[in-house]
Amino acid sequence: MQVQDAIMSRRSVRKFLPKPVPMDSLRRIIEGAGMAPSGNNIQPWKLYVVGGAKKDAISADILDAITNGNRDDYQPEFPYYPTKWFEPFKSRRQETGFGLYDKLGIARDDRAARNAQMNRNYEFFDAPIGLFVAFHRDLATGTYIDIGMFIENILIGARGEGLHTCGQAAFTWFHSVVRKHLEMPKEELLACGISMGFEDEGALENEFRVSKLAIEEFTTFLDVE
Ligand SMILES: Cc1cc2nc3c(=O)[nH]c(=O)nc-3n(C[C@H](O)[C@H](O)[C@H](O)COP(=O)(O)O)c2cc1C
Repeated sequence: MQVQDAIMSRRSVRKFLPKPVPMDSLRRIIEGAGMAPSGNNIQPWKLYVVGGAKKDAISADILDAITNGNRDDYQPEFPYYPTKWFEPFKSRRQETGFGLYDKLGIARDDRAARNAQMNRNYEFFDAPIGLFVAFHRDLATGTYIDIGMFIENILIGARGEGLHTCGQAAFTWFHSVVRKHLEMPKEELLACGISMGFEDEGALENEFRVSKLAIEEFTTFLDVE
């Protein structure tokens, strides 16, 4: 696959087939991720890959925490999103969120159905493989840039293998549960989860398409012919 084809065909998939991910594909994707650039080549990433019983145990414990736990005990360790949304980001966020719910026939005020769809995150959207990206918490803000590159290499690399993905900040709320299952050292901070597998092409979830800005809306060309 050409690089541009891989980039243009990447999108967040939220329903996967049970078909297993071949181990050689997985290894190539991870090898590609490890080739990501990082300031001073510090390569700050740590990656955990889960399948089978380990993945199921993480799902079960998070869903149990949602049902029986106190939500205040489950908060992210770093703010991925602003505490107060403002324009133009507020509208873009709403358009994306409501777009998915509309596609699934979930009414905007149907909190139970929205929560149920949110909880699909913790079932990895049925993907056979879950990945967790972490890094040392004492590193600086620049590390978030490096980690983003690493994550994007995974998402694009997956396309090269005919696979799809969904990045998942949702797991950061339950980092304590994930940490326990992965035996993550306490100095590591969970950046996000990623679901990976073959797309269920018949699923409504996967019919949803987000809108993207035209390049003129975010690019300033100066003295460029
Ligand atoms: C780091 C990161 C975290 C994300 N977290 C979630 C998540 O928790 N749940 C989810 O359904 N989608 C999540 N997404 C997917 C975004 O909603 C998606 O990328 C965005 O709507 C743009 O759509 P596209 O990926 O199809 O281009 C995440 C994406 C990224 C990059």
